[in-house]
Amino acid sequence: MIHLKTDEEIELLRENNILVSETLAEVGRHIRPGVSTGELDKIAEDFIRAHGAVPACLGYEGFPATLCISVNEVVVHGIPSDKVVLKEGDIVSVDTCTFMKGFVGDSAYTFTVGEVSEEVRRFLEVTKEALYKGTEQAKAGNRVGDISAAVQEYAESFGYGVVRELEGHGLGRKMHEAPGVPNYGARGRGPLLKEGMVICIEPMITMGKKAVVFDEEDGWTVRTRDRKPAAHYEFAVAIRKDGPDVLTDFSIIERAIKH
Ligand code: MF3
Ligand code: CO
Repeated sequence: MIHLKTDEEIELLRENNILVSETLAEVGRHIRPGVSTGELDKIAEDFIRAHGAVPACLGYEGFPATLCISVNEVVVHGIPSDKVVLKEGDIVSVDTCTFMKGFVGDSAYTFTVGEVSEEVRRFLEVTKEALYKGTEQAKAGNRVGDISAAVQEYAESFGYGVVRELEGHGLGRKMHEAPGVPNYGARGRGPLLKEGMVICIEPMITMGKKAVVFDEEDGWTVRTRDRKPAAHYEFAVAIRKDGPDVLTDFSIIERAIKH
């Protein structure tokens, strides 16, 4: 069942998603060669709690941390650790969720550590742009497949891989609500988008082949099978009368990491 949100509920979702943007900005300020992903996790947990929210990933289906931190070939759901130390040239996807006033915020951003190659920089730009291409389709009367196809076509036009095993989702009082929002698909197919729906669009794109492997030991980490880098950008979008209303604010993150 798809929950349609009132204007008031959308504002509570916006508050959560702005807090997630601010949390990712705070994490971004601390990303540099030599920092461990465990340290970043602590910074985020303190930040979220200091702003009156609860870290919603922590304990979700047993996930052990506030942030999912996914370095290089890790696509999503990397577990922070004091033993994972970032180094120059890495890319690092950080995904987190808040819970406050009855609603959830959920967003992800891929950061660079020091200088990265031109090839990697372009890969990140394309992945983020794929999210924007999908977002343009997030309007009442369209279908989920319009979003999916826009993301897929854009990413594949550069020869990148589109991960099939994981997808975006509805967002509300729960982190994962209907509908699922795949990053591949056909225009005109899938659930109809209606005013009041709130969805997370989250392309997970690979520089090499699209196949992924799920780590059976830790139960969480998802890696590319060919060990090529992966990127992940995610934000929440409300479907409004006049088009997509992005509830997350990447400009907060981008101002924080500009140097
Ligand atoms: N934030 C992720 C998503 O986009 C989910 C994180 S899994 C968790 O759906 F276990 F860490 F919560
Ligand atoms: Co999500």
